[in-house]
Amino acid sequence: MKAVRLLEYGGQLVFDDVPTPTIARDEILVKIKSTAVNHLDLVEASGTVRQILPIDLPWIPGHEFSGVVEQIGSDVAAFAPGDAVFGTTTGMGAYTEYLPVKAAAVAKKPSNLSFEEAASVPVAAQTAWEGIFTHGHLEKGQTILIHAGAGAVGAYAVQLASHAGATVIATARGDDEAYVKSIGASRVIDYREAQFEKVLREKVDVVFDLIGGDTQNRSFLVLKEGGYLVSAVQPVSQEESARHRETGAMMRLAPSGDVLGRIARLLEEGTIRPDVATVYPLRAAAQAWNDIAGNLPRVHGMSPSGPGAARRRSHGKIVLRVA
Ligand SMILES: NC(=O)c1ccc[n+]([C@@H]2O[C@H](COP(=O)([O-])OP(=O)(O)OC[C@H]3O[C@@H](n4cnc5c(N)ncnc54)[C@H](OP(=O)(O)O)[C@@H]3O)[C@@H](O)[C@H]2O)c1
Repeated sequence: MKAVRLLEYGGQLVFDDVPTPTIARDEILVKIKSTAVNHLDLVEASGTVRQILPIDLPWIPGHEFSGVVEQIGSDVAAFAPGDAVFGTTTGMGAYTEYLPVKAAAVAKKPSNLSFEEAASVPVAAQTAWEGIFTHGHLEKGQTILIHAGAGAVGAYAVQLASHAGATVIATARGDDEAYVKSIGASRVIDYREAQFEKVLREKVDVVFDLIGGDTQNRSFLVLKEGGYLVSAVQPVSQEESARHRETGAMMRLAPSGDVLGRIARLLEEGTIRPDVATVYPLRAAAQAWNDIAGNLPRVHGMSPSGPGAARRRSHGKIVLRVA
């Protein structure tokens, strides 16, 4: 079968022939229709996080997919060959034609979504769900501040929080204000024009941080006592959290077919919607990576777009069509 592989840290992606994988008893083999690009793919490939997130080279990237079940392991009861599914990977990467994956990380694909749309959902939507509900304990009637509400994760956080009955304030660039309001934010603060901690008049119950650094540090100032600061990008200072009498936690996505199934129902009933920016064929994965490299200037091997370069549409996922 064909797969995109990285042969060495910081190296080029190559479109290769690799052996078709076999499955364990609790796995299914999925014939991949689409996969999607995440920042993490590029970061892992660069080698900068190899101490925390090592990869085995040669390595097939890709953390999410949509496709059709080809084969099921002997312990799998929830799926049958021919089912259209989507999910997060649990071992091998998804830039490939066939993927073995734990059945527990997979859900049935929403019938109203194309395979391309479905592949764009699992990582961003589950990260948002777990960030705001599992770690942020967001409840109806509360207020949440979401940093980067126009991004892939942020857009699901805005939609899910709004659907849960929370008041949603988001930071984003001014150009994205209409989009972020259209998906449920009641207020958008342009991060390039205003300091959110200076313009917010009332404190919030939860901050969901998808930016880190100074944005995270300033977030302590806008949280109520007893509030939650959840970051998906960097650890949260426990000293600062204690000083402000807040709970701070960094989260890492824990793939769950159950959570994804609940997200699938919200997508199916039209309560939330996916956002695909661009679709490339799998063999053009390197070009897709270049599209987002400008957002990751410190990642080795990626050249940031120079002055005057066209800015990528700031919201929506990049999807790779496999079949
Ligand atoms: N912990 C986990 O398990 C986990 C899982 C998934 C993702 N993540 C991480 O979460 C982060 C977000 O991922 P994503 O896929 O949503 O990224 P994305 O789609 O690239 O979105 C990033 C967004 O942030 C905006 N932005 C940049 N600087 C900003 C600032 N100072 N304030 C507010 N918005 C700003 C960008 O807009 P402009 O640049 O156009 O203004 C863009 O809309 C990444 O660092 C990713 O690695 C973590």
